[in-house]
Formats: sequence, structure tokens, C-alpha cells
Amino acid sequence: MTITAGRSAMPQHVAIIMDGNGRWANARGLPRSAGHRKGVEALRTAVRAAGEMGIEYLTIFSFSSENWSRPPAEVSFLLDLMRHFVRQDVAELHRENVRIRIIGERQGLAPDIVALIEETELRTQANTGLTLVVAFNYGSRHEIATAARELALAVKSGRVAPDSITPELFGSFLSTEGIPDPDLLIRTSGEQRLSNYLLWQCAYTEFVFVDEFWPDFSRETMQRAITEYLARERRFGGLTAQSA
Ligand code: IPE
Ligand code: IPE
Ligand code: MG
Repeated sequence: MTITAGRSAMPQHVAIIMDGNGRWANARGLPRSAGHRKGVEALRTAVRAAGEMGIEYLTIFSFSSENWSRPPAEVSFLLDLMRHFVRQDVAELHRENVRIRIIGERQGLAPDIVALIEETELRTQANTGLTLVVAFNYGSRHEIATAARELALAVKSGRVAPDSITPELFGSFLSTEGIPDPDLLIRTSGEQRLSNYLLWQCAYTEFVFVDEFWPDFSRETMQRAITEYLARERRFGGLTAQSA
């Protein structure tokens, strides 16, 4: 990664926490599931907008490792929505040259979901357009602990020398290996926290929090967040030209 201080250029990697589906539905007297369903439409809008804006990587938080603690009916609905999204949308995304990567823990997932994930990645791996990274059954602390365990095993077997462990090497053990860190993180619904999302990767990410609930996310919401990002000054701990 090249770290250059100063006025930002168009973000190469945008990460989104799609939040507020339940509250969107509540506000309309609808069941939470209606919010999740509408949220999938917003996701389609976001993917299209990102591609058209020339963003190279879009990472979306679709299901967290903590979301299993929701009522079983909601969890099942969310898992079915994931199945449905993959079956329904992957063919079109593939035609649009989108490469899909799915990060998160696969162990313990239903075998048909694991199969869908693997097929999707395989089918789209040679695509050269937008890379859509789907964080599914993802939790950052678990990801980091898993990387530490794998690194420990590599050291134990003599494949890695302890002295060679750098942030770059550690990063290569994470599920985001090969993906640049997010430049911009957008969270909808007014909440201002990371909720165990990309903790390592967001060390120098710019955060933009928007009040809209995820189902209301539009191309304009994305444009506004990017405009705010472009006005930010990224310093990476250094000084900018004027103050140096
Ligand atoms: C985001 O909306 C979708 C997921 C977390 C899967 P929520 O379901 O969290 O909606 P709120 O935050 O309860 O409104
Ligand atoms: C984060 O949203 C997870 C996803 C968007 C998938 P949550 O709604 O689960 O986060 P908290 O519980 O409000 O922090
Ligand atoms: Mg939420």
C-alpha cells in the first residue's frame, strides 16, 4: 500500500455497514423481514453505483458472527435471503464482470450455503470489473484470532521465522488478503460504531455516518458520502504540505 498524505482522490475501496433494516420496517408498521427484503434492493443499487463510479472494491457487511443471537426466525430469514441473493443475482453480476469474494467463517454454515459461496467465487474469479466482497458470518476479532493461530502453526512448523512477522505478513493471513484497505467506510442508520467489522483493515479508513436507514440508501447517498470523503484530508500520521 502506498501511503500519501493530502487531499483524497476517488476511493479505491469503499466498505459499507448496511444497518437499519429493522427500524425502516418498524417505522412503516411492517415486519423486520420486509426491511431486509427492501435492503437487498438497496444493495443492488449500491453495487451498480459503485461500478459506475469506478470504485474497484466494495465490501458489504451482510451477516455478522454476532447476528446469530437474533431470534431464530430472523436468522433463518437472513440466511434464506443470502441464498436467494446468490441464486438470483450472481448470473447478472457475472455478466457485468463483477468478481465476488465472500469473507467470514464457513465452518458451521449449512452445506448448501458453503457450496453456493464456493461456486460463486469460482465462477467470478477471472472477472476484472468491480470486486464485491461480501462479509458473511464475519467477525473481525475471530478473523484476527484465526490469523494468529495459522501464523503460530506456520512458526511451529518452521515455515515462518518469528522475526519475519510484520504487519504486511500478518495481513496476508487475514481473509482480506490481496485486497487494499478500505479508504472510506459508510454506515447507515445513524449508529456510529464498527460492530466488529474490519478492525485491522480500517486503521486509516475515513468514516462517514449517514442517518438514512439502509433500505433508503440510494445513488445520491453514495455520492454524498464520497463528496464528504473527497473533502477530507488524510494524513496517515504525517503532515500536509501547508503545515510541513
Ligand atoms: C441491518 O439491519 C441488517 C443486518 C444486520 C443483517 P438491522 O437488522 O440491524 O436493522 P436494525 O439496526 O435493527 O434497524
Ligand atoms: C452490523 O449491524 C452487522 C451488519 C450490518 C450485518 P448490527 O445491527 O448487527 O450491529 P449492532 O448490533 O447494532 O452493533
Ligand atoms: Mg442493526
